[in-house]
Amino acid sequence: MTPAGPPARPWALLAELTHACPLHCPYCSNPLELARRSGELRTEEWTDVLRQAAALGVVHTHLSGGEPLLRPDLERIVAAAEAAGVYTQLVTSGTGLDETRLTALRAAGLRSVQLSVQHSDAGAGDRIAGRPGAFAAKERAAALVRAAGLPLGLNVVLHRDNLDSVGELIDLGEAWGVDRVELANTQFYGWGLLNRAALLPTRDQLARARETVERRRERLAGRIDLVWVVPDYFDGVAKPCMGGWGAVSLTVTPDGAVLPCPAAASLPDLDPPNVRDHALAWIWDDSPAFNRYRGTDWPMTGPCGTCPRREEDFGGCRCQAYALTGDPTRTDPACALSPDHPLLRTLTDPESAPSSPPYVYRRPGASVP
Ligand code: SF4
Ligand code: FES
Repeated sequence: MTPAGPPARPWALLAELTHACPLHCPYCSNPLELARRSGELRTEEWTDVLRQAAALGVVHTHLSGGEPLLRPDLERIVAAAEAAGVYTQLVTSGTGLDETRLTALRAAGLRSVQLSVQHSDAGAGDRIAGRPGAFAAKERAAALVRAAGLPLGLNVVLHRDNLDSVGELIDLGEAWGVDRVELANTQFYGWGLLNRAALLPTRDQLARARETVERRRERLAGRIDLVWVVPDYFDGVAKPCMGGWGAVSLTVTPDGAVLPCPAAASLPDLDPPNVRDHALAWIWDDSPAFNRYRGTDWPMTGPCGTCPRREEDFGGCRCQAYALTGDPTRTDPACALSPDHPLLRTLTDPESAPSSPPYVYRRPGASVP
């Protein structure tokens, strides 16, 4: 059991500045109920959040969304992070980035950019993003970021419709001059969970993609960092989600709710605290939400209770346990020891013919089946 005592300090903050987005990706992990623009934190509130986060120990923030470029005050938020001593990475679709904006962001202190890409083929990419011209905008954005001399990473969410092109996606990153390619197999939360039947790959696809990545890794060693985020539905191993609940990072949503992970808003009875009502230090140290599943000192059910791996993975992902079983205290079904693991075996069984329903594109007010 993790010893009781003051929690470790967080070092990372995911700042979801807005849920508004020009793209409509079906794998998005944002909640189905997207935050309204009228309820978003104002510039001064984000400034205060960043100051408080730095005082808590945060040294790195992902400025994310939705599309953070849709915030007209993004430069002021970047400047606030810089003044607080927090390293900023802009996580963007690239749509809406031009030279003037990038120059202003850089002058404000922006340190690096992570660009999302849906496919190596422009037509397929635009189809997945649900927006014509999305790929071309990314290509332009990548060139601008490189010309500005900022570190650039590609972020690719992998699924059935792009896994077979993983080699071309890495090649695209190489051609665009990136420093890092993050190949993140879809995590099924929010819109991604809703679209799971359309997105879930086959075991064969994953095996081929892994091989391709390994070959590219050898060739690109020392030049491009390739990160493979494991497909936990398939591997039989639970992940220490977010490095552990309330262990290393926090998420602030557009309307100020503070969560141990971006998907936690879906959990029942969590009652997320809000920066409009509480100091971030109290939220991190003392709020019931951050202490609910922290470490291993909570009533873990199932095999986790006596499992030696519990100090490493904390029983896996609470949001996934809830999404798949309706009970957030159960062992994450991704773990082969979980009594619920057969749920995933059924979904990922090579014999089960994949169905291909159309995407439900992420957009406010979409009619959700
Ligand atoms: Fe981790 Fe629980 Fe599985 Fe053990 S039983 S490996 S602690 S998820
Ligand atoms: Fe919430 Fe894993 S996504 S605990």
